[in-house]
This record gives sequence, C-alpha cells and structure tokens, in this order.
Amino acid sequence: MSNKKDIININKDTNLTSEKVIKLKNNNEQYFILNGKRKTYHILTYGCQMNEHDSEKIAGMLSSIGYDETSDEHNADLVIFNTCLIRENAELKVFGKLGEVKGLKRNKPDMIVAVCGCMMQKEEIRDKVLKSFSFVDIIFGTNTIHELPNLIYNVEVNKKKSVDIIDNSDLIFEDMPKSRKFNYKALVNITYGCNNFCTYCVVPYVRGREKSREPIEIINEVNALAQEGCKEITLLGQNVNSYGNNLENKFTFAKLLYELNKITGIERIRFMTSHPKDLTDDLVMAIKDCDKVCNHVHLPIQAGSNDVLKRMNRKYTKEHYLELVKKLKSAVPDIAITTDIIVGFPGETEEDFQETLDVVKKAEYDSAFTFLYSMREGTKAALMEDQIPDDIKHNRFDRLLEVLYPIVLAKNEGCIGKVYPVLVESISKTSDNFLTGRTEHFRLVHFKGSEDLIGQMVNIKITSAKTFHMEGDIVKDK
Ligand code: SAH
Ligand code: SF4
Ligand code: F3S
Repeated sequence: MSNKKDIININKDTNLTSEKVIKLKNNNEQYFILNGKRKTYHILTYGCQMNEHDSEKIAGMLSSIGYDETSDEHNADLVIFNTCLIRENAELKVFGKLGEVKGLKRNKPDMIVAVCGCMMQKEEIRDKVLKSFSFVDIIFGTNTIHELPNLIYNVEVNKKKSVDIIDNSDLIFEDMPKSRKFNYKALVNITYGCNNFCTYCVVPYVRGREKSREPIEIINEVNALAQEGCKEITLLGQNVNSYGNNLENKFTFAKLLYELNKITGIERIRFMTSHPKDLTDDLVMAIKDCDKVCNHVHLPIQAGSNDVLKRMNRKYTKEHYLELVKKLKSAVPDIAITTDIIVGFPGETEEDFQETLDVVKKAEYDSAFTFLYSMREGTKAALMEDQIPDDIKHNRFDRLLEVLYPIVLAKNEGCIGKVYPVLVESISKTSDNFLTGRTEHFRLVHFKGSEDLIGQMVNIKITSAKTFHMEGDIVKDK
C-alpha cells in the first residue's frame, strides 16, 4: 500500500489548532501570567531510540501548548511514562516507578500522570494499569502522540480520565513539533513499525506494520537540521535496509544515503538497525562511497545456530551472515561491526550456543548488546517447548561475555596511538574533568577538555583502552 495518501500533517490537519487546544494554550498562558512561571512536564523514557525520539515529539507538543520541561519529577505538573516491553525487566521497571509516583500523586493531587509507549499498545497491560494504578489520568499509544493536548484538556477542564489508543498505525504524522534533546546530533525516523515477526519479539505487535516516510520528507528534515547546526544524524528504523519497499515510487536505503550525503553541514550519518537478510551490495557500496556515512554497521546476529535462526524466523543463515561481514570488511577495511545477541532462546542446545560463540570469534565484533531470552506473551516463541531454565541461560550468558570482552578490548587496544575525530557529547559521568564523545566507529572516548567543546568535532589521540571506553588527548592535527 502506498503511504503517500496516508500522511497527516499535524499542523495543518489535526489538533494543535483545534478549539480545545487553543483554549488549553490560553489557560496555560493565564497560568504563566498569574504565577510568573509555566506549568512543567517531566518525561521518563524507557526502551530504544524510537521511544527517545517519540519523547522529543511529546516534548515538542507540550512546549507548543505552553509547558516547560523540568528535570525534577517531584515538582512536575505533568509526569509522562514513555514505556517499553521488549523484555520482562523493561516492563518491571515501569511498574516499579509507577508505584513510586503513586505516593507523589497522593501529596500533589493536581499532578497529571500519563502513560504511553509500547506497553500501552497491549490491552492486557493497559487494563492492568487502569486497575492497579487508578491514579493514572491519561493513557495514549505510539500512534496517538498528537492527541496528547486534547487528552490533557479532557483531564484539566472536563475532569475526565482519558484513554486514546486508536489503531491508526497506517498513518504517518509529519511535521510534529519536536523539542530535540541535543542540537549537534539528532534522531530521524525513516521507517515506522516492523514486518519481520522475529518469533521472540513484540515490536510488530505494538508498533504495527512497516511504513516508510517519503524521501523528500526525510531530506527536508535533515536539511532543516543542518541549517540549525546539527552535525550528526541517526536514521531510525526497525530494519532500515527495507526502507522504501512500500512507497508508491520505490526508493532504496542506499539511494537515501547518497541523497543525505549531499547535505552541507551534516558531518556524520548513522543508522539503526540493519537486518542481515536485507543488507544489499548497493548498501555496502553506499557506506564505502559516502564520506559522511560512518564506518559502523549495527548488524544483529541474534544467534549463531541455523536451527535457532530458523526458529527465530530471522531468514538468514550463519554462513550468509559471515559472508556479509566479510563483504563489509573488504569494502571498508576499518569498518566497525556491532551486534545484538540473545542467549537461551527456546530449544537452544549447548551445540547451538557454541555456534553463537563461533560467530563472535569470526566476526570479531567491535561491541555487542547481549540479552537473556525473555518470554513475551503473544509471541510465537512464548509457545515453544523447551524453554531454557534460568541457570543455563545465565551460565551461557557469562560464557558469552568471557569470549566477547577480550575481542572488544583487543579492538579498542588496536586504536592506541591513532588519532580519531570525535564528536564531543557531554561531560563524562565518571569524572568531572573529562569530556566524552564517540568516534565514527561508535567507540566511546574520554578526554580532558573544556565544556564549551560540547557539540564540536575534535581530534583525539588514543592513549589507553578498556572494554567499554578508551581514553585520549586532544591533538591539533590528524
Ligand atoms: N529491530 C531491531 C531491534 C529490535 S529490539 C533488530 O531487529 O535488530 C533490540 C534487540 O532486543 C533485538 O535485536 C534483540 O536482540 C533483543 N530482543 C528483542 N526481543 C527479545 C526478547 N524477547 N528477549 C531477549 N532479547 C530480545
Ligand atoms: Fe523485532 Fe525482528 Fe522486527 Fe527487529 S526485525 S523489531 S527483532 S521483529
Ligand atoms: Fe523500542 Fe521497547 Fe518499543 S525496544 S520499539 S520501546 S518495545
């Protein structure tokens, strides 16, 4: 299906100009005049970069109706939970925090509590929140972010609990206002949803079918970002490699990279995530050809055994995957390859697990996110026999790290003595004297420097390396 006709332009077609929202804005203006400060919101974001970016849209909506952000949830007039349910512990974290906020709301009854995000796309979880956390005032879904001002109006003016989870996941809402967290780097959606139905994963059930944004919408957004001084963009999709498949005028991800590479001002282009089944030779060439596209591919393997991959519905084999790694490394010799690995998928035998270790050794990953398989209700894998006991999962997990970490450390140690451009991101969490940033390969670097370098590109000579970060010194030239 073409998604062209389904695009809704939020400013022109929907709620920011509705009567209710204008009233709400006026109320907030009145509040500002009377109190000398604006009402405040605090967003708690769980999960992946999709959610991080959705929170920027939520913040944008709130700011356009007259709210200010606060970093202190205790003082906020509106607290929003943007939730994730990818693994059980993600869900437990949200319920734990909701319990804490219950006490807060008791002391501050006017505070509005809203819950949104992937967890709210599931009816059973929504019902649980409505029943066990009855103080929650607003519930909305991943496709109803634009409705938030109306929902706030319902609570504030009509004194009504408000739930809005319409399934309009076929629509793309363009031009939603966004309050981006950083001005030097930005997240940019290129696809929404997922069609892959990996058997362990909830995402297709909560984010709907895959839809691509029109190339022109993406190019315009990145052009505008460049004009505002943004240096690094990260293109977001559950599988960026299938970008464009469902557009009326077919377009490919590789083509999109060539287009974005032309934009003056943008210095780095990143993307997340590449599904191995759809990584084309054209894309390998685009990474090689486009100077702004970072020499880094996040290429989740999930498991090394072909049996397990089949039961995961990943649609590639270990051999195909290793062939891709080889292709990437021969086209772009200094490319960094990172991955996601799940241990303890139902039916995983010791032999299957050894296959995962074998891929880790052969691919020589630059880093990896490692997960214990978590059974998710509603997925095919939850119904599979031979769920792996926790102790075996943990044992395999520990052995995986024993193989993985020395490889990652050796990769980082290989950088010692070399100079890399680093985009300075923040003050280091570990020490006040240090700044932190990343190389194009996504390696984290700590170095001494003044705070006003944040957002700048600096050259860093690497002096030492650990498993999770490297240290270095600012140098003038490469
Ligand atoms: N669309 C991306 C990432 C989706 S979620 C991709 O396909 O790569 C991020 C990671 O969470 C996945 O790559 C997978 O490794 C992990 N994950 C997803 N569901 C999981 C589950 N039920 N248990 C454990 N890990 C899971
Ligand atoms: Fe989940 Fe697979 Fe889609 Fe990634 S590609 S979001 S793992 S179903
Ligand atoms: Fe992301 Fe979690 Fe949803 S990983 S897409 S926020 S379920």
